[in-house]
Amino acid sequence: MTTITAVLLAAGQGTRMKSNLPKVLHPLCGKPLVLHALEAARQASTETPVLVVGVGAEEVRKTLGESVRYAEQQAQLGTAHALLQAESLLKGQSEYILVTYADMPLLRGETLRQLVETQQANRGPMSMLTVIYDDPRGFGRVIRKPDGTVAAIVEEYVATPEQLAVKELNVGAYCFRADWLWDALHQIPMSKKGEYYLTDTVELAVRAGLPVQAIVLNDLTETIGVNTRVHLAEAEAAMRRRINERHMLNGVTLIDPATTYIEAQVTIGADTVIWPNTYLQGATSIGRECSIGPNTHIRESKIGDRCKVFMSVMEGAWLENDVEMGPFARLRKGAHLCDHVHMGNFGEVKDSTLGPGVKMGHFSYIGNAQIGPDVNIGAGTITCNYDGEKKHPTKIGQGAFIGSDTMLVAPVEIGEHARTGAGAVVTRDIPADSLAVGVPARVIRTLERKKRSE
Ligand code: UD1
Ligand code: CA
Repeated sequence: MTTITAVLLAAGQGTRMKSNLPKVLHPLCGKPLVLHALEAARQASTETPVLVVGVGAEEVRKTLGESVRYAEQQAQLGTAHALLQAESLLKGQSEYILVTYADMPLLRGETLRQLVETQQANRGPMSMLTVIYDDPRGFGRVIRKPDGTVAAIVEEYVATPEQLAVKELNVGAYCFRADWLWDALHQIPMSKKGEYYLTDTVELAVRAGLPVQAIVLNDLTETIGVNTRVHLAEAEAAMRRRINERHMLNGVTLIDPATTYIEAQVTIGADTVIWPNTYLQGATSIGRECSIGPNTHIRESKIGDRCKVFMSVMEGAWLENDVEMGPFARLRKGAHLCDHVHMGNFGEVKDSTLGPGVKMGHFSYIGNAQIGPDVNIGAGTITCNYDGEKKHPTKIGQGAFIGSDTMLVAPVEIGEHARTGAGAVVTRDIPADSLAVGVPARVIRTLERKKRSE
């Protein structure tokens, strides 16, 4: 099998970001820039990618861990010098070396695969990607020979007026034959700026009479490189459109894609409808036939099928199927709503399970609680779960009926089919099938169970 190794250059300063965070760790649609670039590189290569790190190396390593191999560039002496840092790792290990810049998060894996295929068909030692565009944005100009192969890449600051007028630009992605590359890199002369430019490999090949092939990208958004926060916002908008289109083509309705903010990792089932001004973030999954939004913020949560989340906020929560929540409901970490739960306005749930069919219509706080099936939580119910030092659990048995404005002073347990009166302050456990009222709540009688129609 052909071996292809991707090397991503990420050692540069990123000075123009004016940030404490290394440039390649800035998030784009919820994922660091470098991870987008890596994902594309993986689709076009066969070996574990190598990341050349320098400035901010430690933070980059911490974020990416063992998913890549690292080469360190101690001093930022240019893109050719950066690639040379991977030589000792890769020499003799791989037939092709695919090189991209880690600050280009929109390059597609598919495009990089085309680049590799172009090189595999090239009798010369390298191939590259170009784009034709009116605004040069400081990119190197690509000069072609009459036969269509590349004659040179000329960096902007050394270009003649004639060369500056050239509209074909160097995107910054190359595929090299490895047996040629490593020796060539050692021959690159230092530029006037004191750096070694990877783009000078073209000249070396041309001088040796070897053809350099280039393919022209059609989709301009793929070439957005992030040097400033203005570029970052451009890239975010382009990536967001791409993500939204993917979901729509998979059968998800977005009422207004322009105001729907879906991060890269999110999955959504077919026939789900997403209403405007909705944010879906982190590792969130949403099932089929749901209705989500408008004005909804969901992070790191799991939602089953046929759920309705209306103007609500959730983080670290889990809805099973056919759950209805909102408007103005809030689920925090560890909230778990089982099938057919109904949660109405102004409720908050944290670290609690609401069993199947629980109804919690209005103004409640439920924390550290286990609530059995078919419990009714009256308006204004509160689990008083925190004594100033510790959190305490509340347990409510199947079919219980909690009266409006009940305070459940945890730890406390309410038995199956028990009831509390309005305004009860429950400080002691209530047995099954009994009614408790008052402050503090006392049991005043036992109840006959209603015949249930199950
Ligand atoms: C580079 C290209 C230019 C191309 C443009 C496209 C060169 C000489 N020029 O210019 O032709 O049009 O990209 O975006 O390659 N890096 C290192 N170590 C270094 C220097 C850079 O790892 O010593 C990394 C940076 O982190 C960055 C990438 O290489 O990810 C590109 O470097 P940058 O300085 O941004 O190059 P450009 O001036 O944009
Ligand atoms: Ca750049």
